[in-house]
Amino acid sequence: MHKPRTPLRALGVAAAAAVVAAGSVVALTSTAEAATTLGASAAATGRYFGTAVAANKLSDSTYVGILDREFNAVTPENEMKWDATEPNQNQFNYSSADRIVSHAQAQNMRIRGHALAWHQQQPGWAQNLSGTALRNAMLNHVTTVAAHYKGQIYAWDVVNEAFDDGGNGARRDSNLQRTGNDWIEAAFRAARAADPGAKLCYNDYNTDGQNAKSNAVYAMVQDFKSRGVPIDCVGFQSHFNAQSPVPSDYQANLQRFANLGVDVQITELDIEGSGQTQADNFGRVVKACLAVSRCTGITVWGIRDSDSWRASGTPLLFDSSGNKKAAYTSTLNALNSGGTTPPSDPPTSPSTPPSTPTDPGTGACTATISLNQWNGGFVATVRVSAGSSALSGWSVSTTLPSGAAVTNSWSSQSSGSSGTVRFANVSYNGSVAAGGSTEFGFQGTGTGPSSATCSAS
Ligand code: G3I
Repeated sequence: MHKPRTPLRALGVAAAAAVVAAGSVVALTSTAEAATTLGASAAATGRYFGTAVAANKLSDSTYVGILDREFNAVTPENEMKWDATEPNQNQFNYSSADRIVSHAQAQNMRIRGHALAWHQQQPGWAQNLSGTALRNAMLNHVTTVAAHYKGQIYAWDVVNEAFDDGGNGARRDSNLQRTGNDWIEAAFRAARAADPGAKLCYNDYNTDGQNAKSNAVYAMVQDFKSRGVPIDCVGFQSHFNAQSPVPSDYQANLQRFANLGVDVQITELDIEGSGQTQADNFGRVVKACLAVSRCTGITVWGIRDSDSWRASGTPLLFDSSGNKKAAYTSTLNALNSGGTTPPSDPPTSPSTPPSTPTDPGTGACTATISLNQWNGGFVATVRVSAGSSALSGWSVSTTLPSGAAVTNSWSSQSSGSSGTVRFANVSYNGSVAAGGSTEFGFQGTGTGPSSATCSAS
């Protein structure tokens, strides 16, 4: 079990009450009340303070001592990525990730899952796929990994770094992008179906201030919210150095995303530098998060400078011997200066998009199945296409071969799991324009079906 949310929130409410009772918004800075660790201090405003963790460092007692003392959330640095969790197609390996998960659970820490779909750190077999085969493999990966950790992950980075850096606001070219522009929403829908309790995040870098790239992410989130694509949070990696300093509009940028109705999280914070300049920058970032009520937590990308992917830039809060740096003190002071409190029960994105006052009428439809079959299991992606009239609802029936069973479906409501199985539209994909189409999918054991019939409703 990850750290229960209620105690964190209760603590936040208690702290807020203390502020009101004292009649001062700076009551939390008093030495008597100030928390002395990063996690406890973040918890006082209902937030978490986490770090990236590498499984192979869990035997280092200095590392683990700091981890357990200071942090109340973890993100596996590499262990939940596609190459680590599915080294061969449909052979899943959770051994390194599970070591981090077990450690976090024993310490009541929240777990951020990172990352289900990304153009980097793909296993070789996935790098060699394209088109429908890659799309289905990606959906199978998202579904299987999210289902494995169902109920244990606070937030998943469902899709990581899908936008281009070129200033054109375009999607990054990648094998995943070449499977079709809807790959991101397909990944989010599959993740929601597999673990409905996890917050689902889009995560990226160079989106920390307002710029062409963050504007493009903003437009995507706005579009997802309007169409009922499940998205709950946006992660801002926040890797800073002299070439990429903390932007002056950092807080305003977090706030504009929060205003779309998603949580925002600082997911991979590190700031190259040293001394008071570095300390001041950490303080600014922390204060920006605390000023935005839907900024629910901060994760630094490693514990000691020597643990960093950018070790030579000494970008973290502890030096290579594990001593607290000035950046640590500034971070703790900023956390202890108090701030807004996240909503006690942040709404997840609606399953029903705003209703559209159209009269789509009814008409005939067809269903075509793309099947990714392997020995013992399958993922089926079904395209529902409207004829010359629009659809206001649809259902698809298919008969599974003997011995086969549906174990999971997304973007549809299924009835039955063997023999003849029926899939009906869900609220956001029942309306299909004349000549248009929509997709849903399902996963199962045994041999998948190759055809299906569609009826309009
Ligand atoms: O584990 C192998 C080891 O066996 C081998 O000897 C060694 C030789 O190069 O490589 C080791 O794997 C490295 C792995 O980190 C573990 O240390 C990989 O080469 C290396 O590429 C990998 O780098 C990771 C990087 O993502 C990959 O893109 C970093 O640790 C990790 O901090 C970094 O994290 C990313 C986030 O996921 C996404 N945002 C950016 C961030 C920083 O790049």
